[in-house]
Amino acid sequence: MDKLAVLGGNPAVPRDRRSVSWPVITEEDRKAVLGVLDGDSLVSNSDTPTAVDDLEARFAEHVGAARCVGVSNGTTALQIALAALNIGPGDEVIVPALSFIASALAPLHQMAVPVFADVDPVTFTLDPVDVARRITGRTAALLPVHLHGMPADMDPLRELADRHGLAVVEDAAQAHGATYRGRAVGSLGDAAAFSLQVTKNLPTCGEGGLITTDDHAVADRARMIRQFGEVIEAGKSRDYVSYRLGWNAKLNPVQAAFAASQLARFPGYEAQRQANVTAFLDRLRGLPGIQVPARREYSSHAWHILRFRFDPAALGLPEVAPAALRAVIRRVMRAEGVPLSQYQLTTLAQQTVFREREGFGRGYPWAALDGAAPFAPAGHPVAEAVIKDSLTLQKRHLDPTSGPLLQFYADAFEKVWSHRDTLVTLARAAS
Ligand SMILES: Cc1ncc(COP(=O)(O)O)c(C=O)c1O
Repeated sequence: MDKLAVLGGNPAVPRDRRSVSWPVITEEDRKAVLGVLDGDSLVSNSDTPTAVDDLEARFAEHVGAARCVGVSNGTTALQIALAALNIGPGDEVIVPALSFIASALAPLHQMAVPVFADVDPVTFTLDPVDVARRITGRTAALLPVHLHGMPADMDPLRELADRHGLAVVEDAAQAHGATYRGRAVGSLGDAAAFSLQVTKNLPTCGEGGLITTDDHAVADRARMIRQFGEVIEAGKSRDYVSYRLGWNAKLNPVQAAFAASQLARFPGYEAQRQANVTAFLDRLRGLPGIQVPARREYSSHAWHILRFRFDPAALGLPEVAPAALRAVIRRVMRAEGVPLSQYQLTTLAQQTVFREREGFGRGYPWAALDGAAPFAPAGHPVAEAVIKDSLTLQKRHLDPTSGPLLQFYADAFEKVWSHRDTLVTLARAAS
C-alpha cells in the first residue's frame, strides 16, 4: 500500500497529469470574436441585429423558453428579472440559506429583503417545507437556486407560489443544461437567470448573463431595464426616452459571439462531462463517511460543482468535530493532488451584509418592512452543517478531456480511505 503523500509518499495524481483547462477555447471561438471586431456592431443597442440578438435566439431555443435577454452578468440577470417582475421595496423574497452571495444581493438591490430558508441535505436546494414556514403577507417571490447544477424541486415550490400569488425566479447561474422532470432549467419559473462568467458550464470570455422567460411583457421590461429604461428596437432609431428606471447592464457582442460559439459545442461537452463525472462518482459511493454528489430521480445534474460531505461518526470518530475532520481530509487529499476546497465560509444568512444590515443606508431596505424582522442569522441547521462538513471540486472536471484526471482523483480517494487509520489519528490530533 502506497504511503500517503502527506507523509512523504508519491501523490496518487501524477504531477504531469494534473493540467486540464476550462474554458476550452477553439479556432471557432477565435473566429467568432474576430467576426464581431471586423463587423459594425460593437454594442448591443445597434439598430441592426447584433451577436447579442443571435445568442438570445439560440439560447431561448436551447432552453425551450419563448424569450431570452442578454445582460452584463448573472447578478444583473437576477436583479433585472426581479425588477421586470415588479419586485421592490417592502417585498420579501425567499432565498436558500446556502448559495453564492449574488442570489441574496439581487433582491437587496431591488430594495426587497431576502428571507433565508433552509436547504435539502442531499440536493442542497430549497427545502419546500421550510419555505412554506417562512411565507408571510409580504412575500412576493421565491428564488430557488439550482445549486451546483442540481435543479431545485420546482413542483412543490410552484404549488406554494400559486397558492400565495408569488413570482418564481430561477437562479440557474450554475445549471446550464440541467433538466427537471424532462424540462430544461430556465423554462420552469416566471423568469430565470443564467451566468456566462468564464468558469460556468456555458462560459464567455469574461462576464455575461442571460434572462429567459415565456412572458413577453417580462422580456420587454428586462430589455428596457438593461438599457436606461429605453425602448430599443431593431430598424427603429433610438428616441432617448427613459420610460422606467433602468441601468446600463448590456451584454457585449464580443462576449455574446464567444458564448454562442461555445453553445454550439455545449451538447457534446455536456454528454462527455456526464460520462466522466458519473464514472468518477461511481467509484466513491462505497467509501464510508462520504456523501457523494447525487441527483434525484426527477432531474438530471449539470455537475457544475461537486460537493462532498464527510461524516465523522461513519468513520468511527463521533467525538471529532466535522470541521476538524474536513480540514484533515483537505490537507491529505491536496497532498495527493486532489484540489478539494471550501466554497462558502458561512451561510448567506450569516453574511455580514445581512447580519449588520448594510444596505442602502438609514436601515433600508429593511426599514421598509415597518419594523418586521423576517430573518435571523441562525435557524438553518442543514445549511449550517453543510458549511462545516463539506468540500468541493470546481472547474477542472468541466473540461471534457478530464476523464483520466477524475480517475486519478478516484485513485486518491481510494488510497486515502485505505489509510483510514492514519486519517483517524490525524483528525483526533487536530480535534
Ligand atoms: C448561484 C449563483 N447565482 C448568481 C451568480 C452570479 O453570476 P455572475 O458572477 O455572472 O454575476 C453566481 C456566480 O457564480 C452563482 O453561482
